[in-house]
Amino acid sequence: MPRFAGKPETNSHAPHRIALIGFMGSGKTTVGRLVAARLGYRFLDLDVLITENAGKSIREIFAEDGEETFRRIESDTLYSVREMNRLVIATGGGAPVRQENQEFFENLATTFYLEVSFKEFLNRTGRDHARPLLDHSKNDLVKLYKSRLPIYRGLGQRIITDARKPQDIAAAILKKMS
Ligand code: S3P
Repeated sequence: MPRFAGKPETNSHAPHRIALIGFMGSGKTTVGRLVAARLGYRFLDLDVLITENAGKSIREIFAEDGEETFRRIESDTLYSVREMNRLVIATGGGAPVRQENQEFFENLATTFYLEVSFKEFLNRTGRDHARPLLDHSKNDLVKLYKSRLPIYRGLGQRIITDARKPQDIAAAILKKMS
């Protein structure tokens, strides 16, 4: 039987809001869904909320309105869930970088950082057209990755994801909360 089948578990230590952060390709959405299902919580993906509200894709927002506008919408959308309880939210890789978002991860959610190595990030994302930042050169992506690492590590409880199945990563998060 799959490990995550069956009734959601009662976990009295589970916080109201769980946020997942990490670089692109770290598995935030896949793992977030599993954790939410296990706890019987609602799952939200910040990028999906943004595209639903904007009525266009992330790539279109970047191209037509610019990254700064995307970042503003991202902050507004993040804080729009601040009152929601029993929630797991997977956030875009850049969300923790903006200073005004950091309070959310520090005080308004219990935050887990899914760490993916740069090599594994490349393997997992390939030339994914939906992610505008993947248009950048490999050198620029390395710089971006390195600049974000300390921010992620400072904001979230670190979970290594390389060579681990999503189910095992979700189990590791649940264990940290038990
Ligand atoms: C971004 C990551 C993307 C998305 C946008 C920008 C980033 O989300 O928010 O393309 O700055 O790292 P994922 O981390 O879910 O790919």
